[in-house]
Amino acid sequence: MHGSIFTALSALFGTRTYPPQYPINDLAQSPAMGWNNWNAYACNVSETMLLSTAAKVAALGLRDSGYQYIVLDDCWSNGRDHNGELQPDREKFPSGMKYVADQLHSMGYLFGMYSDAGSYTCGKYAGSLGYEEKDAKTFASWNVDYLKYDNCFNEGLSGTPKITAERYRVMKNALKATGRPILYSMCNWGEDLPWNWAHTVANSWRMSGDIYDYFNRPDARCPCTGEETYCAYPGYHCSVMNILNKAAHIIHTSQPGAWNDLDMLEVGNGGMDDEEYKAHFSMWAALKSPLLLGNDVSVLDAKALSILTNPAIIAVSQDPLGVAASRMYRYYVNDTDQYGQGEIQLWSGPLSGGDQVVILLNAGNISRTMKASLEEVFRQQTGISPEVSNDWDIYDLWANRMDLELAQSIIDGTGKPSPEVYYNATETSYKDGLAGGNPVLLGKLVGKVGAGGTIEREVARHGVSMLRLRKTVGSAKLQSAVQQPFELSGTYTN
Ligand SMILES: *[C@@H]1O[C@H](CO)[C@@H](O)[C@H](O)[C@H]1NC(C)=O
Ligand SMILES: *[C@@H]1O[C@H](CO)[C@@H](O)[C@H](O)[C@H]1NC(C)=O
Ligand SMILES: *[C@@H]1O[C@H](CO)[C@@H](O)[C@H](O)[C@H]1NC(C)=O
Ligand SMILES: *[C@@H]1O[C@H](CO)[C@@H](O)[C@H](O)[C@H]1NC(C)=O
Repeated sequence: MHGSIFTALSALFGTRTYPPQYPINDLAQSPAMGWNNWNAYACNVSETMLLSTAAKVAALGLRDSGYQYIVLDDCWSNGRDHNGELQPDREKFPSGMKYVADQLHSMGYLFGMYSDAGSYTCGKYAGSLGYEEKDAKTFASWNVDYLKYDNCFNEGLSGTPKITAERYRVMKNALKATGRPILYSMCNWGEDLPWNWAHTVANSWRMSGDIYDYFNRPDARCPCTGEETYCAYPGYHCSVMNILNKAAHIIHTSQPGAWNDLDMLEVGNGGMDDEEYKAHFSMWAALKSPLLLGNDVSVLDAKALSILTNPAIIAVSQDPLGVAASRMYRYYVNDTDQYGQGEIQLWSGPLSGGDQVVILLNAGNISRTMKASLEEVFRQQTGISPEVSNDWDIYDLWANRMDLELAQSIIDGTGKPSPEVYYNATETSYKDGLAGGNPVLLGKLVGKVGAGGTIEREVARHGVSMLRLRKTVGSAKLQSAVQQPFELSGTYTN
Protein backbone atom coordinates (compact mmCIF):
# COMPACT_ATOMS: atom_id res chain seq x y z
CA MET A 1 0.00 0.00 0.00
CA HIS A 2 2.65 2.50 1.05
CA GLY A 3 4.80 1.55 -1.90
CA SER A 4 1.96 2.25 -4.24
CA ILE A 5 1.19 5.67 -2.71
CA PHE A 6 4.84 6.54 -3.02
CA THR A 7 5.04 5.32 -6.60
CA ALA A 8 1.87 7.19 -7.48
CA LEU A 9 3.25 10.42 -6.01
CA SER A 10 6.54 10.05 -7.86
CA ALA A 11 4.67 9.28 -11.06
CA LEU A 12 2.58 12.39 -10.57
CA PHE A 13 5.33 14.80 -9.61
CA GLY A 14 8.70 13.18 -10.19
CA THR A 15 8.99 14.02 -13.85
CA ARG A 16 7.70 17.58 -13.79
CA THR A 17 10.38 20.00 -14.89
CA TYR A 18 8.43 23.09 -15.95
CA PRO A 19 8.71 26.12 -13.67
CA PRO A 20 8.07 26.70 -10.85
CA GLN A 21 10.45 23.90 -9.96
CA TYR A 22 9.12 21.53 -7.39
CA PRO A 23 10.36 20.82 -4.82
CA ILE A 24 12.52 23.94 -4.81
CA ASN A 25 15.82 22.16 -4.08
CA ASP A 26 17.23 18.88 -2.69
CA LEU A 27 17.16 20.04 0.95
CA ALA A 28 14.86 19.03 3.81
CA GLN A 29 14.26 15.53 2.51
CA SER A 30 13.28 14.94 6.13
CA PRO A 31 12.07 17.75 8.41
CA ALA A 32 14.84 20.13 9.51
CA MET A 33 16.18 19.72 13.07
CA GLY A 34 18.06 22.36 15.02
CA TRP A 35 18.06 25.08 17.64
CA ASN A 36 16.69 28.61 17.33
CA ASN A 37 17.47 31.30 19.89
CA TRP A 38 14.12 33.14 19.86
CA ASN A 39 12.18 31.38 22.64
CA ALA A 40 15.10 31.58 25.08
CA TYR A 41 16.90 34.82 24.15
CA ALA A 42 14.53 36.87 21.95
CA CYS A 43 16.49 39.98 20.87
CA ASN A 44 19.41 39.40 23.23
CA VAL A 45 21.63 37.81 20.54
CA SER A 46 25.41 37.73 20.20
CA GLU A 47 28.32 35.79 18.78
CA THR A 48 29.20 34.44 22.22
CA MET A 49 25.62 33.39 22.98
CA LEU A 50 25.33 31.57 19.65
CA LEU A 51 28.69 29.80 19.75
CA SER A 52 28.53 28.85 23.42
CA THR A 53 25.01 27.50 22.92
CA ALA A 54 26.20 25.47 19.93
CA ALA A 55 28.97 23.96 22.07
CA LYS A 56 26.46 23.11 24.80
CA VAL A 57 24.02 21.56 22.30
CA ALA A 58 26.86 19.30 21.13
CA ALA A 59 27.99 18.45 24.68
CA LEU A 60 24.44 17.36 25.57
CA GLY A 61 24.43 14.94 22.62
CA LEU A 62 21.71 16.92 20.85
CA ARG A 63 23.79 17.79 17.78
CA ASP A 64 24.47 14.10 17.19
CA SER A 65 20.81 13.26 17.80
CA GLY A 66 20.27 15.24 14.60
CA TYR A 67 19.72 18.86 15.66
CA GLN A 68 22.12 20.16 13.04
CA TYR A 69 20.97 23.72 12.29
CA ILE A 70 21.87 26.57 14.65
CA VAL A 71 19.46 29.34 13.71
CA LEU A 72 20.01 32.98 14.60
CA ASP A 73 16.67 34.80 14.83
CA ASP A 74 15.85 38.52 14.74
CA CYS A 75 17.83 41.57 16.00
CA TRP A 76 21.28 40.73 14.61
CA SER A 77 21.62 43.59 12.11
CA ASN A 78 22.72 47.18 12.10
CA GLY A 79 20.86 48.24 8.97
CA ARG A 80 22.41 48.73 5.52
CA ASP A 81 25.69 50.29 4.43
CA HIS A 82 26.06 52.87 1.61
CA ASN A 83 25.82 50.04 -0.95
CA GLY A 84 22.56 48.89 0.59
CA GLU A 85 24.16 45.76 2.02
CA LEU A 86 23.00 44.39 5.35
CA GLN A 87 25.53 44.83 8.14
CA PRO A 88 25.74 42.80 11.32
CA ASP A 89 25.66 44.71 14.59
CA ARG A 90 29.39 44.72 15.40
CA GLU A 91 28.77 45.02 19.11
CA LYS A 92 26.81 41.80 19.10
CA PHE A 93 28.85 40.11 16.34
CA PRO A 94 32.35 41.61 16.50
CA SER A 95 33.87 39.02 14.14
CA GLY A 96 31.09 39.23 11.55
CA MET A 97 28.67 36.63 10.28
CA LYS A 98 31.01 34.65 8.07
CA TYR A 99 33.14 33.98 11.12
CA VAL A 100 30.08 32.68 12.99
CA ALA A 101 29.16 30.46 10.04
CA ASP A 102 32.71 29.11 9.74
CA GLN A 103 32.90 28.39 13.47
CA LEU A 104 29.58 26.56 13.38
CA HIS A 105 30.64 24.58 10.32
CA SER A 106 33.84 23.54 12.05
CA MET A 107 31.69 22.27 14.95
CA GLY A 108 29.65 20.13 12.57
CA TYR A 109 26.62 22.41 12.30
CA LEU A 110 24.77 24.24 9.57
CA PHE A 111 24.03 27.96 10.06
CA GLY A 112 20.57 29.51 9.89
CA MET A 113 19.90 33.21 9.35
CA TYR A 114 16.79 35.35 9.76
CA SER A 115 15.16 38.03 7.68
CA ASP A 116 11.69 39.26 6.82
CA ALA A 117 9.55 39.63 3.69
CA GLY A 118 8.66 43.17 4.68
CA SER A 119 10.17 46.63 5.11
CA TYR A 120 11.22 45.78 8.66
CA THR A 121 11.74 42.61 10.63
CA CYS A 122 9.38 41.89 13.52
CA GLY A 123 11.94 43.54 15.84
CA LYS A 124 11.96 46.63 13.54
CA TYR A 125 15.37 46.01 11.97
CA ALA A 126 15.92 46.33 8.20
CA GLY A 127 13.69 43.93 6.24
CA SER A 128 14.45 42.28 2.89
CA LEU A 129 11.40 43.37 0.86
CA GLY A 130 12.82 45.00 -2.29
CA TYR A 131 16.36 43.88 -1.39
CA GLU A 132 15.92 40.16 -1.96
CA GLU A 133 18.75 39.65 -4.48
CA LYS A 134 21.20 41.75 -2.56
CA ASP A 135 20.40 40.05 0.74
CA ALA A 136 20.46 36.54 -0.71
CA LYS A 137 23.94 37.29 -2.09
CA THR A 138 25.03 38.63 1.28
CA PHE A 139 23.74 35.52 3.08
CA ALA A 140 25.44 33.24 0.55
CA SER A 141 28.72 35.17 0.94
CA TRP A 142 28.46 34.55 4.69
CA ASN A 143 28.09 30.78 4.03
CA VAL A 144 24.55 30.68 5.38
CA ASP A 145 22.73 27.32 5.00
CA TYR A 146 19.18 28.21 6.06
CA LEU A 147 16.93 31.26 5.99
CA LYS A 148 13.96 31.81 8.28
CA TYR A 149 11.87 34.42 6.48
CA ASP A 150 9.27 36.28 8.56
CA ASN A 151 6.13 38.24 7.66
CA CYS A 152 6.06 41.46 9.71
CA PHE A 153 5.67 44.92 8.09
CA ASN A 154 4.75 43.39 4.74
CA GLU A 155 3.21 46.63 3.45
CA GLY A 156 -0.16 44.95 3.06
CA LEU A 157 1.15 42.53 0.43
CA SER A 158 -1.03 39.71 1.74
CA GLY A 159 -4.67 38.76 1.73
CA THR A 160 -4.69 36.35 -1.18
CA PRO A 161 -2.53 33.28 -1.79
CA LYS A 162 -1.30 34.83 -5.06
CA ILE A 163 -0.03 38.06 -3.50
CA THR A 164 1.70 36.27 -0.63
CA ALA A 165 3.18 33.55 -2.85
CA GLU A 166 4.62 36.15 -5.21
CA ARG A 167 6.20 38.09 -2.34
CA TYR A 168 7.84 34.96 -0.91
CA ARG A 169 8.82 33.61 -4.32
CA VAL A 170 11.11 36.58 -4.97
CA MET A 171 13.40 35.43 -2.16
CA LYS A 172 13.19 31.80 -3.29
CA ASN A 173 14.49 32.82 -6.70
CA ALA A 174 17.15 35.07 -5.19
CA LEU A 175 18.43 32.26 -2.97
CA LYS A 176 18.45 29.88 -5.90
CA ALA A 177 20.41 32.35 -8.03
CA THR A 178 23.26 32.38 -5.49
CA GLY A 179 24.01 28.74 -6.32
CA ARG A 180 24.44 27.95 -2.61
CA PRO A 181 22.05 25.36 -1.16
CA ILE A 182 20.02 27.35 1.40
CA LEU A 183 17.04 25.79 3.14
CA TYR A 184 14.14 28.23 2.83
CA SER A 185 11.90 28.31 5.89
CA MET A 186 8.85 30.48 5.33
CA CYS A 187 7.31 32.05 8.40
CA ASN A 188 4.01 33.66 7.39
CA TRP A 189 2.00 32.09 10.21
CA GLY A 190 -0.32 30.13 7.93
CA GLU A 191 -1.74 33.26 6.28
CA ASP A 192 -3.20 32.79 2.82
CA LEU A 193 -3.29 28.98 2.94
CA PRO A 194 0.42 28.25 2.28
CA TRP A 195 -0.16 24.46 2.41
CA ASN A 196 -1.92 24.83 -0.95
CA TRP A 197 0.94 26.54 -2.78
CA ALA A 198 4.18 26.85 -0.80
CA HIS A 199 5.61 23.55 -2.11
CA THR A 200 6.78 25.57 -5.11
CA VAL A 201 8.19 28.35 -2.94
CA ALA A 202 9.81 27.01 0.23
CA ASN A 203 11.11 23.95 2.08
CA SER A 204 8.67 24.55 4.94
CA TRP A 205 5.97 27.00 5.91
CA ARG A 206 4.42 27.85 9.25
CA MET A 207 0.78 26.75 9.29
CA SER A 208 -0.40 28.56 12.44
CA GLY A 209 0.16 31.59 14.63
CA ASP A 210 3.01 31.34 17.14
CA ILE A 211 3.07 28.53 19.68
CA TYR A 212 3.12 29.24 23.42
CA ASP A 213 4.10 27.01 26.30
CA TYR A 214 0.67 25.56 27.21
CA PHE A 215 -0.94 22.26 26.32
CA ASN A 216 -4.52 23.35 25.64
CA ARG A 217 -5.13 26.78 27.09
CA PRO A 218 -7.38 28.97 24.89
CA ASP A 219 -6.18 32.56 24.35
CA ALA A 220 -7.93 35.42 22.58
CA ARG A 221 -4.70 36.35 20.83
CA CYS A 222 -4.87 33.04 18.92
CA PRO A 223 -8.41 33.40 17.59
CA CYS A 224 -8.64 30.46 15.17
CA THR A 225 -9.19 26.97 16.58
CA GLY A 226 -9.21 24.84 13.46
CA GLU A 227 -13.01 24.66 13.36
CA GLU A 228 -13.22 27.51 10.84
CA THR A 229 -12.51 27.03 7.13
CA TYR A 230 -10.36 30.16 6.78
CA CYS A 231 -8.18 31.87 9.35
CA ALA A 232 -7.74 35.55 8.47
CA TYR A 233 -5.82 36.39 11.65
CA PRO A 234 -3.53 33.59 12.88
CA GLY A 235 -2.31 35.53 15.91
CA TYR A 236 0.00 34.11 18.56
CA HIS A 237 -0.23 32.39 21.97
CA CYS A 238 -1.46 29.19 20.31
CA SER A 239 -1.43 26.06 22.48
CA VAL A 240 -0.23 22.62 21.39
CA MET A 241 -3.80 21.31 21.01
CA ASN A 242 -4.87 24.43 19.12
CA ILE A 243 -2.09 23.90 16.56
CA LEU A 244 -2.80 20.16 16.27
CA ASN A 245 -6.50 20.74 15.66
CA LYS A 246 -5.62 23.11 12.81
CA ALA A 247 -3.00 20.72 11.43
CA ALA A 248 -5.53 17.87 11.27
CA HIS A 249 -7.14 19.40 8.17
CA ILE A 250 -4.04 20.19 6.14
CA ILE A 251 -1.13 18.06 7.32
CA HIS A 252 -1.43 15.63 4.38
CA THR A 253 0.06 18.35 2.17
CA SER A 254 3.52 17.79 3.72
CA GLN A 255 6.04 15.80 1.70
CA PRO A 256 9.82 15.41 1.40
CA GLY A 257 11.34 18.82 0.68
CA ALA A 258 8.15 20.71 1.60
CA TRP A 259 6.74 20.55 5.13
CA ASN A 260 4.07 22.15 7.27
CA ASP A 261 5.89 23.81 10.18
CA LEU A 262 3.97 23.59 13.48
CA ASP A 263 6.42 26.09 15.06
CA MET A 264 9.30 25.66 17.48
CA LEU A 265 9.38 23.18 20.34
CA GLU A 266 8.53 24.30 23.86
CA VAL A 267 9.83 21.08 25.48
CA GLY A 268 11.68 21.99 28.67
CA ASN A 269 10.52 25.61 28.91
CA GLY A 270 8.44 24.96 32.02
CA GLY A 271 4.81 25.60 31.06
CA MET A 272 3.80 21.95 30.58
CA ASP A 273 4.29 18.76 32.56
CA ASP A 274 6.28 15.74 31.42
CA GLU A 275 3.32 13.93 29.80
CA GLU A 276 2.34 17.10 27.95
CA TYR A 277 5.86 17.65 26.64
CA LYS A 278 6.05 13.99 25.53
CA ALA A 279 2.75 14.46 23.69
CA HIS A 280 3.96 17.72 22.10
CA PHE A 281 7.22 16.14 20.89
CA SER A 282 5.52 12.94 19.69
CA MET A 283 2.97 14.84 17.63
CA TRP A 284 5.49 17.24 16.10
CA ALA A 285 7.60 14.20 15.08
CA ALA A 286 4.72 12.17 13.63
CA LEU A 287 3.32 15.18 11.76
CA LYS A 288 6.79 15.83 10.27
CA SER A 289 7.09 19.34 11.56
CA PRO A 290 10.60 20.75 11.58
CA LEU A 291 11.99 20.14 15.09
CA LEU A 292 13.62 23.37 16.27
CA LEU A 293 14.63 23.42 19.92
CA GLY A 294 13.71 26.65 21.66
CA ASN A 295 15.47 26.13 24.98
CA ASP A 296 17.99 27.94 27.04
CA VAL A 297 20.17 24.81 26.94
CA SER A 298 22.24 25.98 29.91
CA VAL A 299 19.27 25.17 32.15
CA LEU A 300 17.83 22.18 30.26
CA ASP A 301 16.58 19.56 32.73
CA ALA A 302 16.92 15.78 32.63
CA LYS A 303 13.30 15.18 31.61
CA ALA A 304 13.58 17.51 28.62
CA LEU A 305 16.89 15.98 27.52
CA SER A 306 15.48 12.46 27.65
CA ILE A 307 12.47 13.57 25.59
CA LEU A 308 14.44 15.50 22.97
CA THR A 309 16.97 12.70 22.38
CA ASN A 310 14.49 9.80 22.25
CA PRO A 311 15.73 7.98 19.15
CA ALA A 312 12.54 5.98 18.58
CA ILE A 313 10.52 9.20 18.26
CA ILE A 314 13.09 11.06 16.13
CA ALA A 315 13.25 8.04 13.81
CA VAL A 316 9.57 8.65 13.02
CA SER A 317 10.26 12.32 12.25
CA GLN A 318 13.22 11.46 10.03
CA ASP A 319 11.65 8.42 8.36
CA PRO A 320 12.58 8.42 4.66
CA LEU A 321 9.01 7.82 3.45
CA GLY A 322 8.15 11.35 4.69
CA VAL A 323 4.40 10.95 5.11
CA ALA A 324 2.77 12.89 7.96
CA ALA A 325 0.36 10.99 10.21
CA SER A 326 -3.36 11.75 9.81
CA ARG A 327 -6.07 12.08 12.41
CA MET A 328 -8.30 9.02 12.25
CA TYR A 329 -10.73 9.91 15.01
CA ARG A 330 -11.56 12.70 17.45
CA TYR A 331 -14.09 12.42 20.28
CA TYR A 332 -14.99 14.92 22.97
CA VAL A 333 -14.94 13.54 26.50
CA ASN A 334 -16.67 14.64 29.69
CA ASP A 335 -13.56 14.94 31.83
CA THR A 336 -12.81 18.50 30.81
CA ASP A 337 -10.26 20.68 32.57
CA GLN A 338 -10.61 24.21 33.92
CA TYR A 339 -10.73 25.57 30.35
CA GLY A 340 -13.64 23.30 29.43
CA GLN A 341 -11.42 21.31 27.04
CA GLY A 342 -11.47 17.52 26.83
CA GLU A 343 -11.00 15.26 23.82
CA ILE A 344 -9.26 12.10 22.62
CA GLN A 345 -7.73 11.49 19.22
CA LEU A 346 -6.19 8.70 17.15
CA TRP A 347 -3.47 9.55 14.65
CA SER A 348 -1.86 7.09 12.25
CA GLY A 349 0.49 7.12 9.28
CA PRO A 350 2.74 4.94 7.13
CA LEU A 351 6.49 4.60 7.73
CA SER A 352 9.19 3.15 5.49
CA GLY A 353 9.47 -0.63 5.27
CA GLY A 354 5.72 -1.14 5.68
CA ASP A 355 5.61 -0.05 9.34
CA GLN A 356 2.88 2.18 10.72
CA VAL A 357 3.03 4.82 13.45
CA VAL A 358 0.00 5.00 15.75
CA ILE A 359 -0.61 7.67 18.37
CA LEU A 360 -3.36 7.55 20.96
CA LEU A 361 -3.66 11.12 22.24
CA ASN A 362 -5.53 11.70 25.49
CA ALA A 363 -6.38 15.38 25.88
CA GLY A 364 -9.00 14.55 28.51
CA ASN A 365 -8.41 15.41 32.14
CA ILE A 366 -8.02 11.83 33.49
CA SER A 367 -5.84 8.91 32.43
CA ARG A 368 -7.82 6.28 30.54
CA THR A 369 -7.65 3.12 28.49
CA MET A 370 -7.75 4.07 24.81
CA LYS A 371 -8.57 1.77 21.91
CA ALA A 372 -7.79 1.73 18.23
CA SER A 373 -9.01 -1.03 15.93
CA LEU A 374 -6.82 -1.94 12.95
CA GLU A 375 -9.70 -0.75 10.78
CA GLU A 376 -9.44 2.71 12.36
CA VAL A 377 -5.64 2.67 12.10
CA PHE A 378 -5.64 1.81 8.40
CA ARG A 379 -8.88 3.48 7.28
CA GLN A 380 -8.73 4.36 3.60
CA GLN A 381 -10.85 6.41 1.26
CA THR A 382 -12.85 3.37 0.25
CA GLY A 383 -13.09 -0.15 1.52
CA ILE A 384 -11.00 -1.91 4.13
CA SER A 385 -7.23 -1.78 3.77
CA PRO A 386 -5.59 -5.19 3.32
CA GLU A 387 -3.27 -4.21 6.21
CA VAL A 388 -6.16 -4.94 8.59
CA SER A 389 -5.77 -8.66 7.90
CA ASN A 390 -2.11 -8.73 8.95
CA ASP A 391 -0.80 -9.61 12.41
CA TRP A 392 1.26 -6.77 13.86
CA ASP A 393 3.96 -6.50 16.51
CA ILE A 394 3.54 -3.44 18.71
CA TYR A 395 6.56 -1.37 19.74
CA ASP A 396 6.14 1.30 22.41
CA LEU A 397 8.29 4.27 21.37
CA TRP A 398 8.48 5.79 24.86
CA ALA A 399 9.27 2.57 26.78
CA ASN A 400 13.04 2.81 26.28
CA ARG A 401 13.35 6.49 27.05
CA MET A 402 16.74 7.46 28.56
CA ASP A 403 16.44 7.27 32.35
CA LEU A 404 16.63 10.52 34.21
CA GLU A 405 19.75 9.60 36.16
CA LEU A 406 21.72 9.09 32.95
CA ALA A 407 20.25 12.26 31.47
CA GLN A 408 21.27 14.21 34.57
CA SER A 409 24.82 12.82 34.41
CA ILE A 410 25.12 13.96 30.78
CA ILE A 411 23.94 17.43 31.83
CA ASP A 412 26.49 17.39 34.67
CA GLY A 413 29.20 16.35 32.23
CA THR A 414 29.98 13.12 34.09
CA GLY A 415 28.00 10.66 31.92
CA LYS A 416 27.87 9.70 28.27
CA PRO A 417 24.86 8.73 26.15
CA SER A 418 24.69 4.95 25.82
CA PRO A 419 23.73 3.15 22.60
CA GLU A 420 20.80 1.32 24.24
CA VAL A 421 18.95 4.61 24.64
CA TYR A 422 20.74 7.08 22.34
CA TYR A 423 21.28 7.24 18.59
CA ASN A 424 24.22 9.00 16.97
CA ALA A 425 22.90 10.37 13.69
CA THR A 426 26.23 12.01 12.89
CA GLU A 427 27.68 8.52 12.62
CA THR A 428 24.78 6.89 10.75
CA SER A 429 21.74 8.66 9.34
CA TYR A 430 18.28 7.72 10.61
CA LYS A 431 17.52 6.45 7.13
CA ASP A 432 20.44 4.01 7.19
CA GLY A 433 19.83 3.11 10.83
CA LEU A 434 16.23 2.21 10.03
CA ALA A 435 17.22 0.24 6.95
CA GLY A 436 19.75 -1.67 9.09
CA GLY A 437 17.13 -2.40 11.74
CA ASN A 438 18.97 -0.71 14.62
CA PRO A 439 16.81 -1.67 17.63
CA VAL A 440 17.30 1.63 19.47
CA LEU A 441 15.13 3.21 16.75
CA LEU A 442 12.26 0.81 17.38
CA GLY A 443 11.43 1.37 21.04
CA LYS A 444 10.34 -1.71 22.97
CA LEU A 445 8.33 -4.69 21.77
CA VAL A 446 5.31 -4.76 24.08
CA GLY A 447 2.77 -7.02 22.40
CA LYS A 448 0.88 -8.00 19.31
CA VAL A 449 -2.40 -7.30 17.64
CA GLY A 450 -3.90 -10.03 15.47
CA ALA A 451 -5.70 -9.56 12.15
CA GLY A 452 -8.81 -7.44 12.55
CA GLY A 453 -7.97 -6.79 16.20
CA THR A 454 -7.91 -3.79 18.45
CA ILE A 455 -5.01 -2.09 20.23
CA GLU A 456 -5.62 -1.07 23.84
CA ARG A 457 -3.25 1.15 25.80
CA GLU A 458 -3.32 3.05 29.08
CA VAL A 459 -2.78 6.72 28.26
CA ALA A 460 -1.95 9.35 30.87
CA ARG A 461 -3.88 12.60 31.24
CA HIS A 462 -2.64 15.02 28.56
CA GLY A 463 -0.41 12.26 27.25
CA VAL A 464 0.15 9.91 24.36
CA SER A 465 0.86 6.30 23.68
CA MET A 466 3.07 6.34 20.58
CA LEU A 467 3.51 3.00 18.84
CA ARG A 468 5.24 1.52 15.84
CA LEU A 469 3.40 -1.41 14.24
CA ARG A 470 5.50 -3.88 12.31
CA LYS A 471 4.15 -6.93 10.51
CA THR A 472 4.65 -10.08 12.57
CA VAL A 473 7.16 -12.29 10.81
CA GLY A 474 6.60 -15.54 12.70
CA SER A 475 6.45 -16.46 16.35
CA ALA A 476 9.82 -18.28 16.40
CA LYS A 477 11.64 -15.21 15.08
CA LEU A 478 9.70 -12.93 17.39
CA GLN A 479 10.76 -15.06 20.35
CA SER A 480 14.46 -14.71 19.54
CA ALA A 481 14.05 -10.97 18.95
CA VAL A 482 12.61 -10.59 22.42
CA GLN A 483 15.40 -12.51 24.07
CA GLN A 484 18.26 -10.96 22.14
CA PRO A 485 17.19 -7.57 20.90
CA PHE A 486 20.64 -6.69 19.63
CA GLU A 487 20.52 -9.56 17.15
CA LEU A 488 17.71 -7.87 15.28
CA SER A 489 20.32 -6.14 13.19
CA GLY A 490 23.34 -7.63 11.52
CA THR A 491 25.27 -4.39 11.55
CA TYR A 492 24.72 -3.09 15.04
CA THR A 493 27.37 -3.50 17.71
CA ASN A 494 26.92 -2.44 21.28
C1 LIG B 1 21.64 38.58 27.52
O1 LIG B 1 22.29 37.33 27.42
C2 LIG B 1 23.45 37.21 28.20
C3 LIG B 1 24.05 35.83 27.93
O2 LIG B 1 24.31 35.67 26.58
C4 LIG B 1 23.13 37.40 29.65
O3 LIG B 1 24.31 37.35 30.42
C5 LIG B 1 22.43 38.73 29.88
O4 LIG B 1 22.02 38.84 31.21
C6 LIG B 1 21.23 38.84 28.96
N1 LIG B 1 20.64 40.16 29.07
C7 LIG B 1 19.35 40.36 29.20
C8 LIG B 1 18.91 41.79 29.30
O5 LIG B 1 18.55 39.45 29.27
C1 LIG C 1 28.84 10.62 17.46
O1 LIG C 1 29.72 10.11 16.51
C2 LIG C 1 30.76 11.01 16.13
C3 LIG C 1 31.53 10.35 14.99
O2 LIG C 1 31.95 9.09 15.36
C4 LIG C 1 31.60 11.31 17.34
O3 LIG C 1 32.62 12.21 17.00
C5 LIG C 1 30.72 11.91 18.43
O4 LIG C 1 31.46 12.12 19.61
C6 LIG C 1 29.55 10.99 18.75
N1 LIG C 1 28.64 11.69 19.63
C7 LIG C 1 28.18 11.21 20.80
C8 LIG C 1 27.27 12.09 21.57
O5 LIG C 1 28.47 10.12 21.23
C1 LIG D 1 -21.15 12.93 29.29
O1 LIG D 1 -22.06 13.80 29.88
C2 LIG D 1 -23.34 13.82 29.25
C3 LIG D 1 -24.18 14.91 29.88
O2 LIG D 1 -24.05 14.90 31.26
C4 LIG D 1 -23.99 12.43 29.38
O3 LIG D 1 -25.22 12.40 28.72
C5 LIG D 1 -23.04 11.40 28.74
O4 LIG D 1 -23.54 10.09 28.96
C6 LIG D 1 -21.66 11.50 29.34
N1 LIG D 1 -20.77 10.65 28.56
C7 LIG D 1 -19.92 9.83 29.11
C8 LIG D 1 -19.06 9.02 28.17
O5 LIG D 1 -19.80 9.72 30.32
C1 LIG E 1 -8.01 18.36 35.86
O1 LIG E 1 -6.92 17.58 36.34
C2 LIG E 1 -6.03 18.29 37.18
C3 LIG E 1 -4.85 17.38 37.47
O2 LIG E 1 -5.27 16.13 37.90
C4 LIG E 1 -6.79 18.70 38.45
O3 LIG E 1 -5.94 19.41 39.29
C5 LIG E 1 -7.97 19.57 38.04
O4 LIG E 1 -8.75 19.85 39.19
C6 LIG E 1 -8.84 18.87 37.01
N1 LIG E 1 -9.83 19.81 36.54
C7 LIG E 1 -11.11 19.56 36.52
C8 LIG E 1 -12.01 20.67 36.06
O5 LIG E 1 -11.57 18.48 36.86
